[in-house]
Amino acid sequence: MLKLNLEKAFGFISKASVAAHEGPAIIAREALENGTGKGNDFLGWLHLPSSITTEFLADIQATSHTLRQNCDVVIVAGIGGSYLGARAVIEALSNSFAWLQEKKTTPTIIYAGHNISEDYLYELTEYLKDKRFGVINISKSGTTTETALAFRLLKKQCEQQRGKETARKVIVAITDKEKGAARVTADNEGYKSYVIPDNVGGRYSVLTPVGLLPIAVAGFDITKLIEGAAAMEKQCSDAVPFEDNLAAQYAAVRNELYKRGKKIEILVNFSPKLHYVSEWWKQLYGESEGKENKGIFPAAVDFSTDLHSMGQWIQEGERSIFETVVSIENVDHELRVPSDEANLDGLNYLAGKRIDEVNKMAELGTRIAHVDGGVPNIHVSIERLDEYNLGELLYFFEVACGISGYLLGVNPFDQPGVEAYKKNMFALLNKPSYEEASKEIQARL
Ligand code: PA5
Repeated sequence: MLKLNLEKAFGFISKASVAAHEGPAIIAREALENGTGKGNDFLGWLHLPSSITTEFLADIQATSHTLRQNCDVVIVAGIGGSYLGARAVIEALSNSFAWLQEKKTTPTIIYAGHNISEDYLYELTEYLKDKRFGVINISKSGTTTETALAFRLLKKQCEQQRGKETARKVIVAITDKEKGAARVTADNEGYKSYVIPDNVGGRYSVLTPVGLLPIAVAGFDITKLIEGAAAMEKQCSDAVPFEDNLAAQYAAVRNELYKRGKKIEILVNFSPKLHYVSEWWKQLYGESEGKENKGIFPAAVDFSTDLHSMGQWIQEGERSIFETVVSIENVDHELRVPSDEANLDGLNYLAGKRIDEVNKMAELGTRIAHVDGGVPNIHVSIERLDEYNLGELLYFFEVACGISGYLLGVNPFDQPGVEAYKKNMFALLNKPSYEEASKEIQARL
């Protein structure tokens, strides 16, 4: 079970000041439950873990089987909430060198539709030229330009390389039930498709087909992922008192730190496999809380790597930060430091030790150093990196985000600010119906 340790935050804020959030946190948690808070038409994610049926999971498995049978490479086309959850889980569970292995039992998963880099897309289409590839096209709105552009290229290439009939079998759409170009295309072409429920926003959609299908295609156990999330759903329910409710505690502590001037939260890992969990978390918290000129800025670092780049700033820079360390209690493999007769590198004092023990001491030493340097520390630990524990972790962060957004007084389920760049981009590209905006923006150049 996921553990939350707040002791190293309490040197900076008092237990009493956190306890003072109990009332608002209970109200926030109840507002999620009863649908009485802001953004209450986007609460479909709250009981997803306990409501997903085995039939539904079996259908996802069947589709993943078709893709696995017919593809060596599967492109997940999506941006933001439409790919980060899948990528977080897949990269956390995959062998770090899977993409280099020659004999593969599962398709290689590649991501597209999250940038508009001509070089990226050119190199991708080149790479795919001799590959049996399929595409999972994911867009809730069905109109996101980045994703639509990549999908247009990939669809054409897939049809040319594999023929229309096979393309129809290896292209899957995950989108709105009726609106948007992705839906129109899926229905016209007869693709297998899944619906993203109206009441689940992109960044809360990892436990819908948006996350589940790519994760299943990559060969991971989506039933266990849901089981872990369902366990956390119970653990963070409105029936669990504030002092035992992990999500409410995390939300309260980070809001108290924010009130005390800690404007930046850095999510820390000591395993490169967690890099995309941090990317997913950044989107979840950044889009949910950063509005109305408020909100903690969510940042992330990969340690030890970034101890030798960002470590200096964290240790001695402006004291406006706190850290949340996501720690893995048990690693999957055993590797010990070999002893060396010459000991030229002076490492014999570590001989016989597990590499993970060295890593754990780096983690503990870093936490103590950063606390000494004035950086409050929250510690979240999971037993191991597997589907069950990731399910717990992702769901924990989701509920905590809902509570935290309400404590901050914002709507954690919308993202109105994302539209501003789109409007300008469309105006600059002379998109039909943007004629007025085009004139206005041209006059500003
Ligand atoms: O959380 C969100 O809703 C957003 O980040 C979306 O996931 C992102 O903008 C992609 O949108 P769409 O799925 O409509 O292409």
